[in-house]
Amino acid sequence: MIAFKNSIFHLSTDNTSYLIGIFGGQLINLYYGKRLNSVPEISDILPIDYSRIFSPNDINIDGKKCSTDNLTMEYPTFGSADLRTPAFSATYTDGTAVTRFEYEDYEIHKGKYDIPGLPSVYAEDGDRVSSLCITMSDKVKGVEAKLNYAVFEEYDAITRSVEIINSSNSVMDIDKALSLSIDFRCADFDMITLNGAWARERLPERSPLSYGTKQVESMRGITSHHENPFFALVDKNTDEFVGEAYGFNLIYSGNFVAGAQRDAYNVTRAFMGINPQNFKWRLEGGEHFNTPEVVLVYSDCGIGKMSRTFHKLYRERLCSGKFRDIRRPVLINNWEATYFDFNEEKILEIARTAKSLGVELMVLDDGWFGTRNGESGSLGDWVPNTQKLPNGITGLAKKVRALDMSFGLWVEPEMVSPDSDLNRAHPDWCLHIEGREPTLGRNQLVLDLTRNEVVDYIKSVFDRLLSGGDISYVKWDMNRSMTEVGSAVGGPQAQGKVYHRYILGLYEIMNYVTEKYPDVLFEGCSGGGARFDGGILHYFPQIWTSDDTDALERLYIQYGTSICYPYSAMGAHVSAVPNHQVYRTTPMKMRGDVSICGQLGYELDLNKLDDQDKECVRKQIEDYKALSDVFHTGDLYRLMVPVGNNAAINEFISEDKNTVIVCSYIMKGIPNAPRDYVKLRALDKKAKYKDQNGKVYTGEQLMSFGIKVDYTADYRSNITVYNKVN
Ligand code: DGJ
Repeated sequence: MIAFKNSIFHLSTDNTSYLIGIFGGQLINLYYGKRLNSVPEISDILPIDYSRIFSPNDINIDGKKCSTDNLTMEYPTFGSADLRTPAFSATYTDGTAVTRFEYEDYEIHKGKYDIPGLPSVYAEDGDRVSSLCITMSDKVKGVEAKLNYAVFEEYDAITRSVEIINSSNSVMDIDKALSLSIDFRCADFDMITLNGAWARERLPERSPLSYGTKQVESMRGITSHHENPFFALVDKNTDEFVGEAYGFNLIYSGNFVAGAQRDAYNVTRAFMGINPQNFKWRLEGGEHFNTPEVVLVYSDCGIGKMSRTFHKLYRERLCSGKFRDIRRPVLINNWEATYFDFNEEKILEIARTAKSLGVELMVLDDGWFGTRNGESGSLGDWVPNTQKLPNGITGLAKKVRALDMSFGLWVEPEMVSPDSDLNRAHPDWCLHIEGREPTLGRNQLVLDLTRNEVVDYIKSVFDRLLSGGDISYVKWDMNRSMTEVGSAVGGPQAQGKVYHRYILGLYEIMNYVTEKYPDVLFEGCSGGGARFDGGILHYFPQIWTSDDTDALERLYIQYGTSICYPYSAMGAHVSAVPNHQVYRTTPMKMRGDVSICGQLGYELDLNKLDDQDKECVRKQIEDYKALSDVFHTGDLYRLMVPVGNNAAINEFISEDKNTVIVCSYIMKGIPNAPRDYVKLRALDKKAKYKDQNGKVYTGEQLMSFGIKVDYTADYRSNITVYNKVN
């Protein structure tokens, strides 16, 4: 609900409230947290200090002077009295860079506001969703900011996005336009960010938010393996189950900045949006600019509840298309089985055995096109290599389909190899700067998606590949960070727009292919998980989580990813041992038990397994088909997190609360181990639950006494299913 009374906007979801007040013509953040039953008078809750030295007095009310420099602001701008980190700054034709927005008016409407060209969470008929648009303006410069908010009541989430309008007759350059700025009147937070690198993505790091600014960011043109456009501010005492937690996530796939600034008066300013580095967005008179969306989630029951709120919203109102709600096929991918060394028969051999064990989809990875036999050449030349595949993709797909499997293909559509026909034909189609040697990454260049003809070319590649109906799955890869980001078109004014326009081009293509080919399942990928973000998730319901397929490493990666993103979004494959990334040998059972909660796949030559492991795979797939609905639509409780523990234990509860699955993974066996118990969560105390062995427990028993952690051996894993009995 959104209400406006006594100069206060009250945005409320079922369990949270967000208050914005109007004071001295400014928008003040008054509160975000647990739902309020009543809203006090603004004078009672305004966090105001009169006349602080060196805070310029831009607000004078009833003879009293105060400053936006020590108020809790909602969308601060650069150049006037608030001298902390601004959310917005622009340069005007007179060369000055001062903006001061004042409150103008507001509108409230049912449903969700629009952000043209950008992915966002959406409302469906019957959802209790409403939107607020607050207009602020700088009359001196003729610029407006429309602050858009949407309230997803039953999902307990609030979204924000900003539209900047140049209503003057002159040009202006936006230097910075963040999506979120919010000031908390307290400063005793810890900050959780998801950090890493290739093959060890999104490990949560928690550190006290000390004086000054802490931020994560990307300038790689992608969200990156290194930092994710997510962070949480949590109280000191907050853990998985208790305490307050605020989560912020940007629905965007390019350069971002996300952080928090703690100031001298114990105000914490959280901010998030497009990275202002090399961002300069020229607006002609009458033009407008939309920022990407930020999702805000508040939890009063720890990090776990924050994650569950994100998960449900993302599963149901960020992911889109028919695959959002149906079980997706169990796949086998040939990458780690063959790398570039394959031919049609080898692929079919893998497919046949996979089929016999229950796999439903055969995915052909990199190396099927041009003359590509290694990490150089042919990107852009999407024609089958007939030496490897004499019958082409169509011929191979036909043979795979004859096995009663569907067929999927890897592509890296945003790239071009220097050694490719595409590059020879269009040497200026890549991102580059005239006169500078472009830096290669994995021997490849990035196509310039700001150019319409390049966007059209990529669309036509998909049309050629997909229109025949042979391909029912696409793995969309992207294997380098961007450098020398410039475009041959548009001249100097266009260069500060390239990073963002690239992402708009990317979304245009993703939108095109998913709308035109709704029966094709797309999986996002970027050298593993370098683009695991809400932007991609809007178009593609699953993303390859990491190139690290080691079971133990995956416990950490999937844990960190689950802080914000649901298991239904995580591509999770069983691979061979010794593992190719860390050379560790884990049992087939552990590998399967780790992958079963995500989108299960296999990434090895199953022909090389002994009968016992084959049987294990067959059983895993059978279990997955029976249980995936609980993993992918149920609620996750992280009973024991892998960081700082010798085990990871997750509980999933089905939507109807009738099925409970406990997945436990031991890292190191302990001889003569001390006893450790974990208590199950959120069960019906009075109900009875029966496990696979027929043993019956009460909910109270499982929640009060817990279950014993079995440390008897390295890599011991267990999936226990409890069904409610009436
Ligand atoms: C990186 C991906 O993450 C891998 O799974 C694989 O598809 C390779 N690229 C292929 O080049």
